[in-house]
Amino acid sequence: MQRNVFIKTFGCQMNERDSEIMSQILGTLGYIECLEESQADLIILNTCSIRAKAEQKVMSHLGALRKEKTKRPSLKICVAGCVAQQEGNNIVRKMPHVDLVIGTQEIYKIGELISELEDSTVATALSNEYEIPRFIPNKKTISSGTSYKKFVTIMQGCNNFCTYCVVPYTRGREVSRNSDDIIEEIRVLINNGVKEVTLLGQNVNSYGKTNPVSNQKPGYDFADLLHDVANIEGLKRLRFTTSNPKDLTDRLMRCFRDIPLLCPQFHLPVQAGSNNVLKRMNRKYTRESYLELVDKLREYRPDIVITTDVIVGFPGETDEDFEQTMDMLETVRYHGSFSFKYSDRPGTASLKLDNKISEAVKSARLSRFQKRQDEICLEHNQNFVGSILEVMVEGCDGESIKTRSATNHLVHIDSDQTLPAGAIVQAEIIQAGLHSLKGALV
Ligand code: SAH
Ligand code: SF4
Ligand code: F3S
Repeated sequence: MQRNVFIKTFGCQMNERDSEIMSQILGTLGYIECLEESQADLIILNTCSIRAKAEQKVMSHLGALRKEKTKRPSLKICVAGCVAQQEGNNIVRKMPHVDLVIGTQEIYKIGELISELEDSTVATALSNEYEIPRFIPNKKTISSGTSYKKFVTIMQGCNNFCTYCVVPYTRGREVSRNSDDIIEEIRVLINNGVKEVTLLGQNVNSYGKTNPVSNQKPGYDFADLLHDVANIEGLKRLRFTTSNPKDLTDRLMRCFRDIPLLCPQFHLPVQAGSNNVLKRMNRKYTRESYLELVDKLREYRPDIVITTDVIVGFPGETDEDFEQTMDMLETVRYHGSFSFKYSDRPGTASLKLDNKISEAVKSARLSRFQKRQDEICLEHNQNFVGSILEVMVEGCDGESIKTRSATNHLVHIDSDQTLPAGAIVQAEIIQAGLHSLKGALV
């Protein structure tokens, strides 16, 4: 029997991939993804808890679904992801219209859980002995949403306990996935037309170091994995995210020199520029050691584009501390960044710190940082004008072609040509904006 599932994903790319996995598992049970909540027999909210605002968004969406459930009592509502893990039973207590709360390690069981659904099932066990189940999509289950680029999860969880962060609590201990499974999954994707793969983990730099799965080759690390994946026949582009600078080895940085299809783009979250703040965040690197990494990366791959994450207003952050973050921006000249106001999260160590920063100060710091980042980003983009970039087609509409460079810049090309998604062409950059470049086919 065909049934419709509507999946809404909040949060990070790990969640996006998890949503896809749930969709693929449900696909084998006859579920098809639909685009409207009103057509769904099953609604899954795959949630994020990284900041208070992210969690509030989920809760208000869930609240709104109460009406839908009253109208259509046969509708099933499932909450997955980090809020599900964090709140567990609290969700069904507050929201009795929710049928299933499924934790971050349990998504592979969604098929069984949905079939055997009792009143308000809660499945949020989090185990330290966890192994990522062997999950290789088959042709049938990936055909629906397959495009030319895909995320592939290589590890789950996090052991770093940065003092502001919920992830170690919502995703559990760090576990690496067996490299043979990863490589087989990528082979299947490539056979189905995928050209570009992004390897995913909260800290891919420590792949293989903690809780490696039982049959993993000893000593096999992330640099080994990058070399092996790059050798898979048919792959055109390789990216990864994300990396804690404390675990960035010289061997890994050399991959940018030695693996041509590894894209010259590195997201290296700095969080703060002051050593005092970094220490209280438990980041385990200093501004000096971070800047050494940036120099090395640029030595190995001069065209590398470096982006970052920044938190402003961490408890106790002084004006001088914040100036150090601004100074980091001036020194590295990031091509882009995600910047956030510090947000108190349940269970984290920073929740209990004194000297919380006022909203007004956080907002002022954030807008100052973002304004300067935009200026720098535009300057970088203008430097591309006149150069020729290799770009991959994302889509065409008869008037223009949307493409992406290896450096991850969006490049729009005026052209009535129709090229297949995933095709690689050369574009001369003729104009630069803050969010995209304009190119001409060469
Ligand atoms: N594993 C990644 C980060 C994942 S979370 C890493 O270590 O780099 C994505 C980003 O959210 C973080 O880099 C951080 O900048 C931000 N973030 C995490 N917790 C936060 C909090 N409590 N308040 C504000 N921003 C936060
Ligand atoms: Fe959170 Fe730090 Fe782990 Fe990143 S490395 S997920 S910021 S605890
Ligand atoms: Fe959010 Fe969980 Fe990802 S908190 S950022 S969905 S790991």
